[in-house]
Amino acid sequence: MPSLKVLLSAEQIHNRITELGAEIDRDYPAGEPVYLIAVLKGAFIFMADLARAMKTPARIEFIGISSYGKGKTSSGQVQLTKDLDAPIEGHHVIIVEDILDTGITLNYLTKLMAQRKPKSLRIVALLDKPERRKSPVKADYVGFKIPDEFVVGYGLDYAEDYRNLKDVCVMGN
Ligand code: IMP
Ligand code: MG
Repeated sequence: MPSLKVLLSAEQIHNRITELGAEIDRDYPAGEPVYLIAVLKGAFIFMADLARAMKTPARIEFIGISSYGKGKTSSGQVQLTKDLDAPIEGHHVIIVEDILDTGITLNYLTKLMAQRKPKSLRIVALLDKPERRKSPVKADYVGFKIPDEFVVGYGLDYAEDYRNLKDVCVMGN
């Protein structure tokens, strides 16, 4: 069994998401809905908490992207595995991602979403590993900058395990 060490506790995550929700509320004009697009599967828990931390009306969408195999290293290839259910043209859109790592996934996704002519397009990432960047992407809202270590929990997996841990944990060997 690999060892798990808490990096960010459920409470720390909750408090930071409350702040992110308030920041988003300040940045968007009241009344206009914002499409939150969660990148499956890792962002599902973050999306659920972020949506409730905002007062801005949110519409919920999911998109499926795979850039990772079953291991810890990126395949470098990005594939769309599930598209949105609704058109986003003319709407405010925020892409909701669990972690910004090499940036390959979000670089691909922002280009794809921009082609659909949203009114505005931003990125929120719960976690950011800036040292790992290969593709030029910057998130507009970041929960936590973290060191270059493999983390699981709060939606993030290793080979589909550990997504339902309450804390974000560093995985050892
Ligand atoms: P990127 O395309 O390299 O930025 O990878 C982003 C995706 O890789 C995330 O949505 C995660 O699914 C996965 N990923 C990157 N780092 C980690 C990690 O430390 N733990 C779990 N998944 C990760
Ligand atoms: Mg993922």
